[in-house]
Amino acid sequence: MPMSVRSAKDFFRPLAVGAPEPLREIPARPSRAIHFFDPSNEKMVAKVPPMVGTVDVLLGNLEDAVKADRKEAARHGLVRIAKESTGLGGPEATTQLWTRINALDSPWVLDDLITLVTEIGDRLDVVMVPKVQGPEDIAYVDRILAQLEARAGLTRPLLVHAILETARGMTNVEEICGASPRMQGLSLGPADLAADRRMKTTRVGGGHPGYLVRADPRQTSDHVDVEGQRPTYQQDLWHYTIARMVDACAAHGIYPYYGPFGDIADTVACEDQFRNAYLLGCVGAWSLHPKQIEIAHRVFSPSVEDITHARRVVAAMGDGTGAVMLDGKMEDDASLKQCLVLVELAEQLAERDPELKKLYDAIPGRPA
Ligand code: GLV
Ligand code: MG
Repeated sequence: MPMSVRSAKDFFRPLAVGAPEPLREIPARPSRAIHFFDPSNEKMVAKVPPMVGTVDVLLGNLEDAVKADRKEAARHGLVRIAKESTGLGGPEATTQLWTRINALDSPWVLDDLITLVTEIGDRLDVVMVPKVQGPEDIAYVDRILAQLEARAGLTRPLLVHAILETARGMTNVEEICGASPRMQGLSLGPADLAADRRMKTTRVGGGHPGYLVRADPRQTSDHVDVEGQRPTYQQDLWHYTIARMVDACAAHGIYPYYGPFGDIADTVACEDQFRNAYLLGCVGAWSLHPKQIEIAHRVFSPSVEDITHARRVVAAMGDGTGAVMLDGKMEDDASLKQCLVLVELAEQLAERDPELKKLYDAIPGRPA
């Protein structure tokens, strides 16, 4: 083992005297939509209290999209909102409170951390760290959080979420996920990542009409091209990145998320992009506008059809071994595990979402 890595025995020791013990497992709390707001923007702030209880995560954004001369106002605005809102943030809340701090090389981040942990550390659930390059960035945040938790007398460790938005961060993705027991998850940051990789899309997430495959030309028997239709299929620019994120997160017991989808008016493409991420293994996405909350909540919740089928397979598989035929399809130990992923997710979501609970309770075969 390289000596730069802590001994396995030390991994779950607090990094500062008096800091809470790290968690052994990251709780599976619904986080289908992470709704971003600018705490320095009075209009947005006014919309926050009625959203509490209706969205899985509210995130006070301090980083990009907040103007440099509004950074302090945003930080203090977030403190005020956390203190004044009931039911927002903390282990029992239906709506979690997250923040996105400024980048680690910015002049604001140290004050972000000191102020937020000291003032509202008991309400904050997750600290999102942008532009993470490698495990050393997580180690830095890890230690400072422990020092501040000790100072604030917190009993519950804050969790850390990294945005993958640099090429170097991508190449270090597995190490980032495993860098601290605080690691809660990863989000794709398609705008910064595109820029850093020198991709040629100017869109914030989503596809690009130029990124496509085209069917072969139809040919006559003497191999002359027949002019006519050669259908094209737009491809997903983010497939590789999301797939890598999902593997890295699953390997470390943490959660992957799609990031922002910037074309607010294009709700159809937003839904498609979110659904691709859901199918590949992501648990949620960012919301930049209230109408994206509904999309994310719907897309990242298993459908009634999926749960109906999954529960039938669970029932048919009895002790979980062997194989059965159901509607002409083979089901076995492995397909049972696939079904259990959906059944367990449905149970977790239903615990906090009464509408979903009603929907899933009506499906036969609910696990005891
Ligand atoms: C998000 O932060 C992004 O850069 O896409
Ligand atoms: Mg970014």
